[in-house]
Amino acid sequence: MNNIISLYRAKVLAIANHKGGVGKTTTAINLATALAASNKKVLVIDLDSQGNASTGLGCPTPKRVETISDVLLNRTYIQNAIYSTEVDNLSLIPATTDLVNTEAEIGSGADSYHLLQEAIYPLRSRYDYIIIDCAPSLGTLTLNALVASDRVMIPLQCEFFALEGLNHLIQTISSVKRELNSDLDIEGVVLTMYDRRNNLSELVSQDVRTCFGDKVYQTVIPRNVRLSEAPSHGKPILLYDIHSAGADAYLALSAEFLTRETLQEERKVA
Ligand SMILES: Nc1ncnc2c1ncn2[C@@H]1O[C@H](COP(=O)(O)OP(=O)(O)OP(=O)(O)O)[C@@H](O)[C@H]1O
Ligand SMILES: [Mg+2]
Repeated sequence: MNNIISLYRAKVLAIANHKGGVGKTTTAINLATALAASNKKVLVIDLDSQGNASTGLGCPTPKRVETISDVLLNRTYIQNAIYSTEVDNLSLIPATTDLVNTEAEIGSGADSYHLLQEAIYPLRSRYDYIIIDCAPSLGTLTLNALVASDRVMIPLQCEFFALEGLNHLIQTISSVKRELNSDLDIEGVVLTMYDRRNNLSELVSQDVRTCFGDKVYQTVIPRNVRLSEAPSHGKPILLYDIHSAGADAYLALSAEFLTRETLQEERKVA
């Protein structure tokens, strides 16, 4: 480990929900970008073999020479797997489909859950935030993310089955907290793909707020076509279309996230 005096102590945030297609990657990419735009030093770790966060941050497959797989299997120094992005202050550790084999190689013994936590330890002094984009599963890799993280952010899509199956995630977070990482907590729940024209979105939003109370961000992410187009251009929404409703929403989410952090710090001091 390095013995340089820490200027930063990164908060590590897993973006997780084992349900697929709920906006995890869109949130990871765009919250990270909005935080970087607020002058925070941010690292995104793509922990999904689909590699969507890597693509969405402008790192197509041929560019991904060293990846999170190499890091987890100890085939490289983590520094070698960090790529800069088009966004100032925002870096990326990419993933490729190799991650499927990596997860199998890692196995599922108790030792296998701390690999990411150990790998990112030297980076915690270099960033304000390390944001981990999880895969739609609760397998070994997502458990690694939960063990390595201080907080979990849960995106929920505003659709009828939003809360179904969520118990499984909440129980997994609780057992990781009990057995592997006592610091872990839920940072917040973010409602995604909210459609104002559809009553169902509002009903789901009310249900989620009844269930999670003030863990749910006031900011909701609207369904916005520019958000879905941006990844195919390898750009986060702030670079693809800063005037879109999607950009506004992720800037607002980042502001709310930072305000909550300030309040949490003040409460700690008081
Ligand atoms: N607010 C939004 N408005 C419109 N489209 C969106 C929005 N958020 C996400 N999408 C689109 O919905 C799809 C799923 O989003 P995303 O990839 O972020 O979900 P995910 O939870 O990471 O999926 P997976 O579980 O497969 O990793 C993508 O095509 C994305 O572009
Ligand atoms: Mg994803």
